[in-house]
Amino acid sequence: MIQIKANQFPEGFLWGSASAAYQVEGGYLDDGKGLTNWDTFVRIPGKTFKATTGDVAVDHYHRYREDIALMAEMGLKTYRFSVAWARIYPSGSGEVNEKGLAFYESLIDECLKHHIEPMVTIYHWDLPQALVDSYGGWESPRIIDDYVAYAQTLFSRFGNKVKYWITLNEQNIFTSLGWLTAQHPPGHFDDRKMFYQVNHHAFMAHAKAVLKYREMGGKGHIGASFAYTPSYALDCRPENAMAKCNYDDLKNYWWMDVYAYGRYPKAAMAYLKEQGIAPRMQPGDESVLRRAAAEITFMGVNYYQSCVCEYNPPDGVTPYGTMNTTGVKGSAQEVGIPGIYKNPANPYLMTTDWDWSIDPVGLQFCCREITSRYGLPIVISENGLGAFDKKEEDGCIHDAYRIEYLKEHLKALARAIQEGCEVLAYCTWSFTDLLSWLNGYQKRYGFIYVDREEEEGAPMTRYKKDSYAWYKEVIGSNGRSLLEG
Ligand code: BG6
Repeated sequence: MIQIKANQFPEGFLWGSASAAYQVEGGYLDDGKGLTNWDTFVRIPGKTFKATTGDVAVDHYHRYREDIALMAEMGLKTYRFSVAWARIYPSGSGEVNEKGLAFYESLIDECLKHHIEPMVTIYHWDLPQALVDSYGGWESPRIIDDYVAYAQTLFSRFGNKVKYWITLNEQNIFTSLGWLTAQHPPGHFDDRKMFYQVNHHAFMAHAKAVLKYREMGGKGHIGASFAYTPSYALDCRPENAMAKCNYDDLKNYWWMDVYAYGRYPKAAMAYLKEQGIAPRMQPGDESVLRRAAAEITFMGVNYYQSCVCEYNPPDGVTPYGTMNTTGVKGSAQEVGIPGIYKNPANPYLMTTDWDWSIDPVGLQFCCREITSRYGLPIVISENGLGAFDKKEEDGCIHDAYRIEYLKEHLKALARAIQEGCEVLAYCTWSFTDLLSWLNGYQKRYGFIYVDREEEEGAPMTRYKKDSYAWYKEVIGSNGRSLLEG
């Protein structure tokens, strides 16, 4: 491929930043909100770093005006946030909580007042606990109708103000961590059959919500956000090339093909059938998936890292190696599926303190792959660097490493755009510092430092990091500042 020098982001490009309700809001019992799976899970000893919770988080529920004013001053074009289902339906279904709707209405209005496009994630992992108690949450097909009813409430209340909808955040991650590695609720270990069944319910919920949106006359953008970890074969040994092929079918296309084509990849399905763990589908499901696939307008991509694929012998590593949740570099273990693939470290890439590889080219690779495989526009719904940040005595936070990370990823994105990928938006993770689900508050991602650590009771004052001014300049020049430098 010829090397094209990237020089421009499209006019109207949505420079953004993202958050999720549980990780920023706090106010976990305020104004009639119901309890969620996460409110329950974080109280199980040993589940989160230093037993951190999102009870208070960074108090966005009470300080959203201050946070949005900081976004406006920066010139942010879009703010991606999620709605907490349990604020709208405290019991998951049934009676609507008007105060919950009112909160999101004023958050949306505040964005619009500052010319910030609200991008709404309908589900970012916090499920009303009542639905778990009543029928096992995502384990039951009953969740499909409840999710659609909840989405419908949001569409009808906010449909005239919100033009970008994300149905599900990282279905691949919340199901893997929930049913395979037991690190997220409901904390099941190695429940592979249920894992695929839960995913089928989630696909159906996504698809029916997309169709409902169109049925209601919704003309905006709608799609799901996928945690895309693109893969490179370790080398040209055919068994490693096949390991990559199998990895892609099982770990990437299993989700993206359903969103974009409405069908499961054949080889992966054959493998699941042979293993006796393929999902049960109802008559008519395939048609719903296909019709919804024709209605999505973008592929949402949360990109953090790439991986390497190598053949894994039958007695090789399992998917259950230790994950680094402490920031002690080198503590993550290699994972894979015995007999199929494993993911060794990439010797050509640096890693973060949490052992995530740093690979800007991987972002370009994702965009190219989506463009040629699906021909869909792309929303980069998350990308960012989790790091230990230090507030100096004068209140400054010098996060040059974050600037470097974002700059290189944006340059890679610009190359993808030059090569023909249609990219609508780029959201950094995150705007303010926030709770990292399993890693407490010490793994920071924001442009805004929030003065809190793991213990509750801190003032939570907001401070601008160096990256704040840097991103402001990038946005102000529509990306030219980083491409000229
Ligand atoms: C994505 C999630 O997986 O990555 C976010 O959508 C999450 O909610 C982000 O916080 C970063 O992950 P972590 O584990 O570093 O917080």
